[in-house]
Amino acid sequence: MKIRKVGVLGAGLMGSGIAEVAARAGYDTVVREVTEDLAKKGMGRIQSSLSKAVEKGKLAASERDAAAGRLRSTTALEDLADCDILVEAIVENLEVKKETYRELDRLCKPETIFCSNTSSLTITEMSAATKRPDRFAGLHFFNPVPVMKLVEVVRTIATSPETEETVLEFARSLGKEPIRAQDNSGFVVNRLLVPYLLDAVRALDEGVGSRDDIDKAMELGCGHPMGPLKLLDFVGLDTTYFIAEIMFNEYREKRFAPPPLLKRMVLAGRLGRKSGRGFYEYGEGK
Ligand code: 3HC
Repeated sequence: MKIRKVGVLGAGLMGSGIAEVAARAGYDTVVREVTEDLAKKGMGRIQSSLSKAVEKGKLAASERDAAAGRLRSTTALEDLADCDILVEAIVENLEVKKETYRELDRLCKPETIFCSNTSSLTITEMSAATKRPDRFAGLHFFNPVPVMKLVEVVRTIATSPETEETVLEFARSLGKEPIRAQDNSGFVVNRLLVPYLLDAVRALDEGVGSRDDIDKAMELGCGHPMGPLKLLDFVGLDTTYFIAEIMFNEYREKRFAPPPLLKRMVLAGRLGRKSGRGFYEYGEGK
């Protein structure tokens, strides 16, 4: 199947990154948000990211303008009806996602492939809210979307081989390296990453090392671009807590259990970069 038009649901950090890479890859791209205000904010984020790429000499000004010309935002789900593929990156709430998919299933043409960017919810359950589970897959991007090369293409037991191949090819056309994963909570990356991040919080809490030494250990000892506590701040402590809770409920294994210190930091509003303070402090607006 030839993909020409891409729909992105949600213009948050992930959604706007996905829309940016789709428009840059030459696709007509429609981004849907729930309010005009959120749509405007998302489009602003994409514009400034495109302009930054021009400033850094990674993108010609004409390419920026062409990408911007291929992008539009909407608040109406109806505007996604003729898309060939949808990538959903809305709030990580299964009920809200299922309701949105039910509506989209009614509105979209039968061939439209539905993809969710969820990091830990079950793709199978979302797909069961539609009459097209064979044309439903996971397409999991990483933050920051324009930079991180990987995407996980997630098949359920109902995803057809044609859908999986089309989604893999779509991912490659965005300049990403796809891997195949099964619909198990956390797929491949978060299955390995989340227990590691949680263990770093436990190590800090137990006094195994200081904050700076734990991060330095993994940066200089293992060549990671960010130590685990910096990465937790980057991903968001609330997001990690949320993912860990879902994975713990799924697997009932201690390694996925969010440690009390993580919970307390979330309760105290120390969410990482997004709130200005997590394990580290960040300047205003960072
Ligand atoms: N948008 C576009 N480009 C960006 C960017 C953004 N938000 N942030 C950084 N970049 C670009 C910079 O322009 C720069 O490009 P250049 O080298 O060509 O000039 C390059 O990325 C490196 O950036 P910086 O030099 O500013 O900073 P760093 O070298 O510290 O790199 C980083 C920043 C790419 C974020 C790096 O620290 C990194 O790779 N960190 C780990 C990120 C990671 O692990 N992400 C996955 C999180 S898990 C996840 O998303 C799954 C979810 O389900 C939880």
